Amino acid sequence: MRIVESIADCRAAVAEARLSGRRIGFVPTMGALHEGHLSLLNVARAGSDYIVASVFVNPLQFAPGEDFERYPRDLAGDARLLVSRGTELLFAPATAEMYPGDADVTVKAGRLAADWEGRIRPGHFDGVLTVVAKLFNIVQSDVSVFGQKDLQQAQLIRSMVRDLDFATKIVVAPTVRDDDGLALSSRNRYLRESERVPALALPRALRAIGVSFEGGERDIALLEQAGHGILLQTPGIRIDYLAVVELDTFRRPARLERAGAAIGAIRVGNTRLIDNVLLGNADF
Ligand code: PAF
Repeated sequence: MRIVESIADCRAAVAEARLSGRRIGFVPTMGALHEGHLSLLNVARAGSDYIVASVFVNPLQFAPGEDFERYPRDLAGDARLLVSRGTELLFAPATAEMYPGDADVTVKAGRLAADWEGRIRPGHFDGVLTVVAKLFNIVQSDVSVFGQKDLQQAQLIRSMVRDLDFATKIVVAPTVRDDDGLALSSRNRYLRESERVPALALPRALRAIGVSFEGGERDIALLEQAGHGILLQTPGIRIDYLAVVELDTFRRPARLERAGAAIGAIRVGNTRLIDNVLLGNADF
């Protein structure tokens, strides 16, 4: 695997691969890689034969007081994992390479960002879309793969690609879970052992909503009640939100008549966890 730190070197390596007829797959990450990221590489590999991963902890998507400084960083470990999965190119730029200091133009997330993560983390999605747009322009991949765990992010990236005419195809890969049901996340390493059990209330609550949906319930308030019951009975957590939304708008109608998702975010100690399950959308 080649490791490049400059935009120019990344562009040159990808151009060379493209010239030799390779199809470019791209997995953008913030590092601290786990099996969830590695599953994204596998999905990228299925549709391409030259895989680029990026590792960049993007300061623009963290608000003051969030975990930018303590976000786990382990580039050597990440590189080993990427090599083990046959990644061809790792793009690992420094902050000054991505944001040289005189940058003035950013991407603004639209209506899809109005609620949920967008409301709790103001500016977060503008930061995500700005860095993802830059990465798309640098890597120029045929296919780019994102995880379903960050569902609102994935839907916003899809809308950016549609609205700003990026040429890459977006694929969203299913969430990978630990055996106990917790969605894999780089932030799980902040959890103390005693916080694991309360953390599991989130996937349990989302599953309960899924079961109620499969049983035929379409009233959003009643669907949400099935999950809220579980969260409210769990000591040691704070609920940011638990909701049922339409998948394409992230709005919360009175009844769910089309494809949707149960989404949730909780805090356990100093760790913030988000998760979701899809409701009735086999071809997502
Ligand atoms: O999901 C992530 O890890 C990040 O938000 C992303 C897409 C790599 C942008 O920094």
